[in-house]
Amino acid sequence: MNRRHPYYPHLEAALEAAHLAMGIHRYYLEKGFTQGTKSGPTDLVTQADKEAEEAIKDLLLARFPEAGFFGEEGGSEGSGTFRFIVDPLDGTVNYAHGFPFYGVSIALEAEGAIQMGLVMDTAREEAFFALRGEGAYLNGRPIRVTERGELLGSLLATGFPYDVAQDPENLTYFHRALKRGLLVRRPGAAALDLAYVAAGRLEGFWEVKLNPWDVAAGWLLVEEAGGRVTDLEGRPYRLGHRYIVATNGRIHEALLHTLRGLEEV
Ligand code: IPD
Ligand code: CA
Ligand code: CA
Ligand code: CA
Repeated sequence: MNRRHPYYPHLEAALEAAHLAMGIHRYYLEKGFTQGTKSGPTDLVTQADKEAEEAIKDLLLARFPEAGFFGEEGGSEGSGTFRFIVDPLDGTVNYAHGFPFYGVSIALEAEGAIQMGLVMDTAREEAFFALRGEGAYLNGRPIRVTERGELLGSLLATGFPYDVAQDPENLTYFHRALKRGLLVRRPGAAALDLAYVAAGRLEGFWEVKLNPWDVAAGWLLVEEAGGRVTDLEGRPYRLGHRYIVATNGRIHEALLHTLRGLEEV
């Protein structure tokens, strides 16, 4: 990792903030937490989500007072030339059930692109991070996407929005993938799903209707690990797109074709 990279100090601060979030996730898991709902009965938010966001925001804005902050739990502030995009607890439903697949996601957007991305699995203490142009790392070791070129036999993941019953579009794609005999998981934490593509634990991931805080860090991780991230038509991904498809690159076209219901390539 290049310590002279202009955004290295932001990565260092993000790592510190992620460790604070990990402490908060662990504390409330042990002690018990209050929880409420957001858009509907399955869309949970816990004390850990809120306190982790506060702690991350306080640390990052103390280090970089000129930065903007955009967090899932409403902690948006400032509008400088760069901003942190934060999901303080990705995988809240998993967390609330003690299902150990959740974490924290912190990205830095500057100069019109994501420059730094960090996704930390706070149950396993695995920190996946990347700086633009410097590759991707897991706990300090370089990671790469897999070399697998066959879609059939690749391991894939997806997820569903909380209002999937009202907005069932991804059920169509899920159905098409399963009908082709593809291996699909639904782990429940989009930021980690992307980190797993970067680390070569999955060949691909797609989802519909994610928010910038779910994907900003993982998007950079996948690209820095040698993968490809697009929308459903194969256009380069942009924050705010309704669709995200992230793969090792080799299976990308075949996965897009399957999801869109086209003939196999
Ligand atoms: C959710 C998770 C889940 C995805 C949902 C997201 P949250 O984020 O990433 O995997 O399927 O669409 O909203 O609410 O646990 O931070
Ligand atoms: Ca949430
Ligand atoms: Ca999330
Ligand atoms: Ca969240």
